[in-house]
Amino acid sequence: MLLPVPPDADGRLVRGDGLALMRRLGPGTFDCIYLDPPFFTGRERVGDRGGFDDTWTDLTAYLDWLTAWMGEARRLLKPTGWFWLHLDWHSVHYAKVRADDVFGAKNFRNEIIWHYTGRRSPAVRRFNQKHDTLLLYAASAAAVLTPIFEPWSREEYVRLKKQAVHRDPDGREWIWGHAGRGRSKAYRIYLDEHVDRGRAVDSVWDIPIINTSARERTGWPTQKPEALLRRVVAASSPPGGLVGDFVAGSGTTGVAAYDLGRRFVLAEVDPQAAALAGRRLLARGARVVVDGLGAMGCGGVSGTPDRRRASPSGGT
Ligand SMILES: C[S@@+](CC[C@H](N)C(=O)[O-])C[C@H]1O[C@@H](n2cnc3c(N)ncnc32)[C@H](O)[C@@H]1O
Repeated sequence: MLLPVPPDADGRLVRGDGLALMRRLGPGTFDCIYLDPPFFTGRERVGDRGGFDDTWTDLTAYLDWLTAWMGEARRLLKPTGWFWLHLDWHSVHYAKVRADDVFGAKNFRNEIIWHYTGRRSPAVRRFNQKHDTLLLYAASAAAVLTPIFEPWSREEYVRLKKQAVHRDPDGREWIWGHAGRGRSKAYRIYLDEHVDRGRAVDSVWDIPIINTSARERTGWPTQKPEALLRRVVAASSPPGGLVGDFVAGSGTTGVAAYDLGRRFVLAEVDPQAAALAGRRLLARGARVVVDGLGAMGCGGVSGTPDRRRASPSGGT
């Protein structure tokens, strides 16, 4: 079995078929696996820097293909691990049924809606389609997430609570906390504590898509925002943990993993996308083993170890 990441590297990037790579890795080693495969759109996905084919003979062929990947992902996860499947309306409802079979319906945890703002038109045949869906599965009941917090303001907190705000003599603001029926004034909740901590994110994630002039834009079609992947990685893997993405595109998962102090294994079959991912990771300072599937285990480690950055707190 192949060692996912050698001790002197931050991650591995394999130029080749992700499923073949998964089959060569040992079981129970990954903390989190995120897959953002072709969505069954029925068309070529083309960007400024290349593209990939997303045409299939039929839905069953697509789902059979996807199911093989999920089976391998399940094998590779630790019992405390997490699996993310990123799709949209084209296939997510059918894929959910397959994913339930692979991971067990009882291990299904969330349907995360990634809602992206952007230009909206007054559409009349359907509403503007502005979200993707991420299905989240735990490898077993032993898996726990790390809560993620997003910033919010005093005004948002007060609006949500709909209660009178009181002030201590020193000006510190608080509201009454409830402790069940008949105990509506049980304790004081200080506003600053809640505002400073931020608000725990729920299952709808508002994260803008990458705009045309964004610095993180690589030109690879369907590239996902780093902010989205930072949430995925921070919530579902510990610092120093191992994160996998075997349909890696421009390498966003690897970038998020590296930034948050996790190790990563990426695979990408398209040479242009793999090159983009490699350049992106090296520019970050990551030490990456770059292999072809045939030459696996023989790739050199590139990158500069002293520029490693880690921010274990995660979040967006
Ligand atoms: C939706 S894109 C991933 C985008 C990526 N999350 C990003 O942020 O750039 C899907 C990717 O899967 C890749 N792909 C398709 N079949 C593959 C295979 N058998 N092995 C590895 N990658 C594959 C495509 O080339 C494409 O880059």
